Amino acid sequence: MNIMVPIRQLSAAPPGDADARGLWRERRRAIERSNNHVSPDQIRKPLEGRIFTAGITVFCWFARLLGLHARGLRNALAVQFVERDFFFADLPRAFDGYRILHLSDTHLDCLPELVDVARGLLANVAVDLIAVTGDIHGAFHAPLASSVTPLKALLQDIHSRDGVVAILGNHDPVGMAEALEHAGMMVLVNESTAIERDGSKIILTGLDDVHRFYTAAAKRALAEKPEGFGLALVHSAEMADYAAEAGFSLYLCGHTHGGQICLPGGRSIFTRLRRCHFGARGEWRAGKMIGYTSNGLGVGEVPLRFNCQGEVTVMTLRRGKAEV
Ligand SMILES: [Fe+2]
Repeated sequence: MNIMVPIRQLSAAPPGDADARGLWRERRRAIERSNNHVSPDQIRKPLEGRIFTAGITVFCWFARLLGLHARGLRNALAVQFVERDFFFADLPRAFDGYRILHLSDTHLDCLPELVDVARGLLANVAVDLIAVTGDIHGAFHAPLASSVTPLKALLQDIHSRDGVVAILGNHDPVGMAEALEHAGMMVLVNESTAIERDGSKIILTGLDDVHRFYTAAAKRALAEKPEGFGLALVHSAEMADYAAEAGFSLYLCGHTHGGQICLPGGRSIFTRLRRCHFGARGEWRAGKMIGYTSNGLGVGEVPLRFNCQGEVTVMTLRRGKAEV
């Protein structure tokens, strides 16, 4: 696989500070230690998260009591293969037909059986790029290898011309960036890179998670997007308005798991979004920007799904006007 080289660093470092990644690590660790959840509009104390986790644990007990646990687990393993075409008037001709495998919320430490499920679905798939939009990990304090090793196994047979680019989610500790880089992936932490074809290029900008680990560097990375067709990779839809304002054309994310445990008909009970709620699931628009929120391949520490399928998604970028 080709490994791309970042064209510029757009992190929180002041001008002249060469160690932007080092500064990011320091700030990320400080938020992790505080246990606070820092999102673009607010800082939340950990109590809210604990209440949510307790609620989910109680739900699991009830699921077992009612005999629904086995069914929920079967649902979690019934992943769908989704294909989408997205049309853009500003897509360079050289990228017409560019295929991206979008994986999100793999959480493979929580349900490793999903490796074989996904490999079966992706056995004959060849793409130009694999984009992994965060939550590689599930249990925050588990060894990183418990999620990175199965992710490598999942990806090993998929041909991707431009390699794998990944970002972090709210379940991924600071060390995940280095672990993914050691596994051969490019990790974007409030940074941009370019992919070139026949003298044209598209820009990829990837952010650290903003649901729990927001810093001003994330917003700045969007605002300072280099010229050209822009693809934003963000773990959640919570920066969609800023990305649209900065002129991005496509925004890929996950985080919500599509609701994961939904009411009949697929209506979500939880999305865990603090802002940009329009981006809770599937395809959406923010201004002229197209967004896509994956249901995610995996599940969190509750390995169950109801009325909401996991997905692996291949999207093809097309030059042209979308039919509305
Ligand atoms: Fe997730």
